[in-house]
Amino acid sequence: MNNFEIYTPTKVYFGHGSEERTGEAVKAAGAAKVLLVYGGGSVKKSGLLERVEKSLADNDIAFEEFGGAKPNPTLAHAEEGVKKALENKADLILAVGGGSTIDTAKAIAHGAANSEHALWDIWTKKVPLTKSIPVGAVLTIAAAGSEMSDSAVLTNEALGVKSGINTDFNRCRFAIMNPELLYTLPDNQTAAGITDIMMHTMERYFIQGINCDMTDEIAEGLLRTVIKNGRIVMKKKDDYDAQAEIMWCSSLSHNNLTECGRGKDFSVHKLGHALSAIFDYTHGASLSAVWGSWARYQYTEATERFAQYARKVWGISEADDKAAAVKGIEATEEFFTGIGMPISLKEIGPDVDWNDEVIEKLSMKATMNDTVKLSRIKPLGAAEVAEIYRMALDR
Ligand code: NZQ
Ligand code: ZN
Repeated sequence: MNNFEIYTPTKVYFGHGSEERTGEAVKAAGAAKVLLVYGGGSVKKSGLLERVEKSLADNDIAFEEFGGAKPNPTLAHAEEGVKKALENKADLILAVGGGSTIDTAKAIAHGAANSEHALWDIWTKKVPLTKSIPVGAVLTIAAAGSEMSDSAVLTNEALGVKSGINTDFNRCRFAIMNPELLYTLPDNQTAAGITDIMMHTMERYFIQGINCDMTDEIAEGLLRTVIKNGRIVMKKKDDYDAQAEIMWCSSLSHNNLTECGRGKDFSVHKLGHALSAIFDYTHGASLSAVWGSWARYQYTEATERFAQYARKVWGISEADDKAAAVKGIEATEEFFTGIGMPISLKEIGPDVDWNDEVIEKLSMKATMNDTVKLSRIKPLGAAEVAEIYRMALDR
């Protein structure tokens, strides 16, 4: 097991009616003036926003609304939010929504606390981030794990780049999670969320050559839990217990618990972010579309890990490691297909002409113009990434 640090300071309020404790959570965080960030309106439609605002008012917390965070949230929108936070002297940024809303809230917090700098300079680490404003979240989709993660992702539309920043300042002070809030999700978002949760664990799991029994057991248990309960919620959205499992897995998958002693890879995410930067695809779909090809490209270098995954997660009994590894990859793709997720570029973008020029553009984006090597399994420069995209054209 390698040396590691883990820091997950987020206070979690989990379960029935927990959104009614939002005011109490804000007060406990020492704040009194909130900028309330939300997305395209699902929280208004469901009545959640009203309940959250009542809880704030009942606790004498002042608030201003800032809606409009869109999936694959943008830098320009976050910059507008920074202005609003400064105008209102907000001392806590409260996200009510999913990863896109929470990441927007995190960006606003960093921008408002460092208003002498351009937000993109902070995001790209040109300016070191040394302070921020506290962020809290009321979570409405189990997916990105942003409610407990140390990361946030924005798209700079002017540059056509989607990228993230990892910092302890991204850790939410509190996360409010009521599984009932997931009942109103459309099927494609439930499925994309399940996929993203699995990816966050798998992006850490396959790194070979490090003994981490406890971390393996956590990761394998988490994946089995998501697969089992994912099948249930795809049929019955209002199964409270199944949604509760999925929601808790969303947070644990990406709060660093599944990487202790091993670390992370996240190369599939880089391939996915390039796809979303150009085509604005849903995050989870951008990952499932390339994962199988990435795995087929990588597994010969980490055959034991892929074989262990196949046996422990999918119950595959094949004695030969290579054969087991391939069966595990196939089982994963079958699962994605079963919940309606794309497993190829043709499926995610049936109308796109996936020609050499597009593949080249994607590969250059994913590898920052071939300046970085992705992955801790086989190193992936632009040429290798292009090969994976090509393998993903049609499966
Ligand atoms: O915008 P509204 O109207 O709220 O609708 C949203 C949105 O259209 C809808 N939705 C959310 N909760 C709902 C609901 N609809 C009905 N009922 C509900 N309860 O679902 C759509 C997707 O929402 P979004 O916030 O985009 O989902 P998700 O949580 O998947 O976030 C995706 C973003 O997070 C980033 C992704 O790249 C993407 O930009 N990620 C953030 C990470 C992090 N900060 O740690 C890690 C991830 O790997 C990921 O990169
Ligand atoms: Zn993700």
